[in-house]
Amino acid sequence: MKTLVLVFHPNMAKSHANAALMAAAQALPDDDGSTVTVRDEYAQYPDGRIDIAAEQRLIESHDRIVLQFPLYWYSSPALLKEWEDQVLAFGWAYGPDGRALESKEITVATTAGGPESEYQTEDNGATMREVLSPYRMMARYVHATWREPFVVFGAMELSDEALAETAKQYQTFLTD
Ligand SMILES: Cc1cc2nc3c(=O)[nH]c(=O)nc-3n(C[C@H](O)[C@H](O)[C@H](O)COP(=O)(O)O)c2cc1C
Repeated sequence: MKTLVLVFHPNMAKSHANAALMAAAQALPDDDGSTVTVRDEYAQYPDGRIDIAAEQRLIESHDRIVLQFPLYWYSSPALLKEWEDQVLAFGWAYGPDGRALESKEITVATTAGGPESEYQTEDNGATMREVLSPYRMMARYVHATWREPFVVFGAMELSDEALAETAKQYQTFLTD
């Protein structure tokens, strides 16, 4: 399994949770036939101009795509939306001849400032499954296989020990 982790954090230098998850992903050794490629997309595109062809080639050469980001306003940082709009193009990702993601697995790894209790019931607004439904729907639309996301709640309050444990769980998520 070749896994591609695309990280979208606009201020990685100030990140606690996503920086730890990204480092954990980067630390994974290449195994027999199993590799994890990690890209910091804001570092890659500081001017926001996405190299569409390069991104499409990366996707084509991997089996599983992980979109990693901090939850911002019940959504993602802006570059991920731009990435979807630009990279998941008609004729490539969808449309009559657009089947590039058909055999791929897509999932999300996100960190939320709010605690899990805030995302449990509809009484509190929406469940995390509902919040992340645009990604599930996107995967469905491009005929990819959706994998249940990796979610970190209370991301701003995690102790160093809890974050280290979460980072280990992320490594398992990425290599399972
Ligand atoms: C602009 C902005 C919007 C945010 N919106 C949400 C939100 O909708 N829900 C939530 O649980 N946390 C929200 N947060 C908190 C972030 O999700 C949290 O700071 C982040 O996951 C921590 O990860 P980091 O250490 O990698 O930055 C928001 C933070 C910022 C800066």
